[in-house]
Amino acid sequence: MYYPDELVEEVRTRNDIVDVISGYVKMQKKGSNYFGLCPFHSEKSPSFSVSASKQMYYCFGCGAGGNVFTFLMEYENYSFQEAIQFLAQRAGVALPEREDSAQARERDNKRAELLKVCKEAAKYFYYQLRAGTGAGGYAYLRGRELSDETIHKFGLGFANMTSDDLTRYLKSKGYGDKLIQEAGLAAFDEKYGLHDKFWNRVMFPIQDSNNRVIGFGGRVMGDGKPKYLNSPETPIFDKSRNLYGLNFARSSRAGNFILCEGYMDVIAMHQAGFTQAVASLGTAFTAGQANLLRRFTQEVILAYDSDGAGVNAALRAIGILKEAGLTGKVLNLEPYKDPDEFMKNQGAQAFQERIGQAENSFFFELRMLERDYDLKDPESKTRFYRQIAQKLCGFSEEVERENYIEAVAQKYHIGFENLRRLVRSYASQTGEAAPAPRPKSGLQKKRDPAQNRKKPQKLLLTWLVEEPSLYRKIKQYISPEDFTEDLYRKAAEKLFEDLEKEIINPAGIISLFTDGEQQREVAELFNTKLEELSTRTEKERAFHDVLLGVKRGSFEALRERAGGDVSALGRMIESKKQLEELSKTHISLN
Ligand code: GTP
Ligand code: MN
Repeated sequence: MYYPDELVEEVRTRNDIVDVISGYVKMQKKGSNYFGLCPFHSEKSPSFSVSASKQMYYCFGCGAGGNVFTFLMEYENYSFQEAIQFLAQRAGVALPEREDSAQARERDNKRAELLKVCKEAAKYFYYQLRAGTGAGGYAYLRGRELSDETIHKFGLGFANMTSDDLTRYLKSKGYGDKLIQEAGLAAFDEKYGLHDKFWNRVMFPIQDSNNRVIGFGGRVMGDGKPKYLNSPETPIFDKSRNLYGLNFARSSRAGNFILCEGYMDVIAMHQAGFTQAVASLGTAFTAGQANLLRRFTQEVILAYDSDGAGVNAALRAIGILKEAGLTGKVLNLEPYKDPDEFMKNQGAQAFQERIGQAENSFFFELRMLERDYDLKDPESKTRFYRQIAQKLCGFSEEVERENYIEAVAQKYHIGFENLRRLVRSYASQTGEAAPAPRPKSGLQKKRDPAQNRKKPQKLLLTWLVEEPSLYRKIKQYISPEDFTEDLYRKAAEKLFEDLEKEIINPAGIISLFTDGEQQREVAELFNTKLEELSTRTEKERAFHDVLLGVKRGSFEALRERAGGDVSALGRMIESKKQLEELSKTHISLN
C-alpha cells in the first residue's frame, strides 16, 4: 500500500515524538530537549535526546536517529508501512481502504480462514497436552527440562494417538474438510478417509513474526520415523520466509541473532535467556530468511549441530549470509551435539562465553577446507594455499581483502607478500580487481575524497536547521546540486525548498525516505555536533570554512565527473567562479 506524502505527514504530526518515545524510554527535560538512556545501545549516562521542536530523536553515543516513524521501525522492527498504520491508529487518523481486485480479496479471505483454523488447532493441541491423553507428551517436555512457563510461552501442545480427533474437533467447529486439508492438518485417502496428519507427537506451533500460527512441527514420542514432521507449505506457511522463534527474537536487544537447526534448540536457548535465537523450519536456511534477518540484525551467529551434516549446513548458511550482506560467525559447541545439549550440560554462562569466542566465518571455512589437505606434504600444502588465495579473491572491497590477507598470512604462517602476490595473480586471471599497492604505514592511508566531502555537507545542513536565518545569506552561493551524495542532495533539496517558504521541518524530510537506514542517515545530517564556539568571529570563520568545504567538494566532484567532457565545462567554470567569490566574501552571523 502506498500512502501519499500528505497523509504520511499528517500521521506524523498527529503523533508527538516526545509522547510516543516516553512510552518506551524514561526521559528528563533538559533545556529544550529530553534526555534518556539510549534504547539502541547499552550505556550508563544518557546520550539519547529527543527534540520536541524538531520532532526528532538522536543518540550522540551510537548515532541512532530519526523521526517518530524511524523510532518505531528501529524499536519495534516495524516496516515503514507498519509504523504508519500503528501511528495512524494511535492518533485516530483514517487510512484509505485498500482497493483490491476480487481475486486479491478472495486470496485474503482464504488466508484469513487458514489462519483461523491453524489457531484453533494450536488451541486444541495446547489443551490436549494438559489433558489426561497428553500426559506422555507433557512428561516428555518436562523431561527435556522445559519449564511450565516455557511450554506456555511457546504454546507447545500434543497430538493424540487417535488418528482423527483433531479433524473431528475442527469439523464440529464448522471448518470444512477442504480447508482443514489446505491448512496441512489432515490428509485424505481411500482407505482411512480424512485423517489427522499429526498424531502421537509433541506439537510446536510455528508463528510468524506477528505471533500468528502459520504451521506446525511435531516431534514423535520415542524413536518413530520421521522424528520431526512439519506442516507442508500452504498459502500462509512459506518456509523460506519465516523463522521459528522470530516473533520473540525480533524484540531481543542482543545485537546479534543466533541461528540454529532445531525447534528444541531455540526453545532451550530462549529459556536460558538467549532470546535472539531462531531456527529455519525443517528445511535448509534460505536467502529469503537471510533477507528477513537483515531487517533485525547485522550479525548472525551460527549454532548448528557439530556433526558432519551440521558443518555442511553451516558452510551453506555462511554463503547465504554473505550474499545478503550479513556478518556470519560460527559457534563451537564441542563436545556437545547441539545448543540444547550444550545448555543442559554447561549452562548459560558457558554458552555466553562461547558466543564471545564465535569464529569468524571465513576462518571457519578455511579450517573446514584444511581438513582435505595434508599440510605436511608440500604438494598438498601448496594446493591448499592456492585455494585460500582463490577464496580471498572473493572479497571485492580492497580494504577488507587486504585485512584478510594479513590475518590469514599470520594465522597460517604464510609470508604476507607471497600470499598477496598469489591473490593478485588469481585476481588478474579471473578478472577481479587486483589489490592496489599497500601504503607503507597505516598513517599514510589515502583518505577517501568522497568521505572528506561529506563532513562539511553534514555540518551545513545541521547549521541550517539550527539557524534557519542563515539560509538567505548562503543561497546565492550554495544550491542542492553542491551536495555530492545522492541522499544528502535529496535532503538538501527539500530543506532548501522548505527554507525558501520559511518552514523548518526536518522530521518531515526524514519521512521522505522509507528505508530505516536512510532515515537514520538523514537524521544524522540534521544532528551533526557543531563545535561550541564562543566568539562571533570564531563562529563566522567556522561557518565560512564549512561553506567553502561544500563548494570545493562540489567543484572537485564536478571536475572528476567531467573528465575530458567539454560540455560540462560551463558548469565547472561557473562553479569555480562561485567558489572564488565565496572565498573572498565575509558572511556575518547576527
Ligand atoms: P531432538 O533434540 O532429538 O528433539 O531433535 P533436535 O532438536 O536435536 O533436532 P535435529 O538436530 O534432529 O533436527 C533439527 C531440525 O531438523 C528439527 O527441529 C526439524 O525442524 C528438522 N528435522 C529433524 N528431523 C526431521 C525429519 O525427520 N523430517 C523433517 N522434515 N525435518 C526434520
Ligand atoms: Mn537435540
